[in-house]
Amino acid sequence: MAYNHIPVMLPEVLEYLKPRKGQKFIDGTLGGAGYTIALAKAVGSNGLVLSTDLDQLAISNATEKIEQLKLKNIVLVKDNFKNLAAMVKEEFPVGQKFDGIVFDLGLSSAQLDDEERGFSFKSSGPLDMAFGTGGEVSTEEIINEYPLLELTRIFKEYGEERQAYRYAKAIVEARKFIRIKTTADLVSIIEKIFPPRFYHKIHPATKLFQALRMETNGELASLTGVLPDAINLLKPGGKIVLISFHSGEDRIVKRFFKSRTDIKILTKRPLVPGDSETMANPRARSAKFRAAQKIN
Ligand SMILES: C[S@@+](CC[C@H](N)C(=O)[O-])C[C@H]1O[C@@H](n2cnc3c(N)ncnc32)[C@H](O)[C@@H]1O
Repeated sequence: MAYNHIPVMLPEVLEYLKPRKGQKFIDGTLGGAGYTIALAKAVGSNGLVLSTDLDQLAISNATEKIEQLKLKNIVLVKDNFKNLAAMVKEEFPVGQKFDGIVFDLGLSSAQLDDEERGFSFKSSGPLDMAFGTGGEVSTEEIINEYPLLELTRIFKEYGEERQAYRYAKAIVEARKFIRIKTTADLVSIIEKIFPPRFYHKIHPATKLFQALRMETNGELASLTGVLPDAINLLKPGGKIVLISFHSGEDRIVKRFFKSRTDIKILTKRPLVPGDSETMANPRARSAKFRAAQKIN
C-alpha cells in the first residue's frame, strides 16, 4: 500500500532546527518520513537521525524509502515516543545528547486512508484506532463499555463536541441491543442524532472519531510524559519543535514551555501554515507550530 502523507510545515521545521553536517536529531513521529529524510540528508553521513513511530506501516514504508535513497544515517525504532529516554539509552548506551527533536503529532493521511484500520468514518472498518498494535485501551471497549459520563467527557474534552452528552447517550442506548463493532455501526448511531442533511462544514463523526482515537492511544498522556525527557536529551543550544493539531495538545506544549527555566521560547505565538500550504494540503489547516531552545 502506498504511504501518502504530505509533511506539514517542513520548511519551518528546517528553518528552526537548522540541521548541519554531523549533527544528531530525533524525529519522534516518523509517519511518512518526510522530516526524517530531510534531516538525514542535511546532517550527512557523519550525522544521525533517530526516528520513532508506533505504527508498523510507517516503519515499513520508511525502511523501503531509506534503502532506495541509500541513506545510512537513520535509526528506526518502533515504539511509543513516551519511552524516548529508554529508547535512547538502549540505542546509545554512552549517553547521547541531540541537536534537535521534532514531534508532528496525531495521525498521518496514510493511516486515515487505511481501510483496515478504523480511523476514518468514511469507510467501514473495525473499531480499532490504535496507532500501533494495541492502544492503551481498545476503541471497541471504549464504545461498548465506558460509562455514559466517561464517554461524554472524552467527546467533550478531546472532541470539543458541544453535544457530547447527546451522542454518548445515543451510544449507550444502542449498545443495550447490539455490540457496536464497526465504524459504520457507530456512524449510523451518530447520523440518527444528526442526519446528513443538517451538516454544516464537517460531519459530526469527525470530532467523535478524533476523541476516540486520542483516548485509545492515550495521546495527551504520551505528550505530557515525553516533554521533560525531550529537553533532557537536548544539548545546550539544541532545539525542540512541536506541531500539534488539537487545542489540548497545543495547550500542554504552551504550558510546558512556560514552566521551564532551562529553555528559551522561540515562538511567542504558535506559527500556522501559510495560505498556499493549506490550499495545497487542507490537512495542514489546524497545525500549530511551537519551538524552544535549551539554554546553557
Ligand atoms: C502526522 S504523522 C507524522 C508525519 C511526518 N512528520 C512526516 O513528515 O511524514 C504522525 C505519526 O506519529 C505517530 N505517532 C503518534 N503518536 C505516537 C506516539 N505516542 N509514539 C510514536 N509514534 C506516534 C503516528 O503513528 C504517525 O505515523
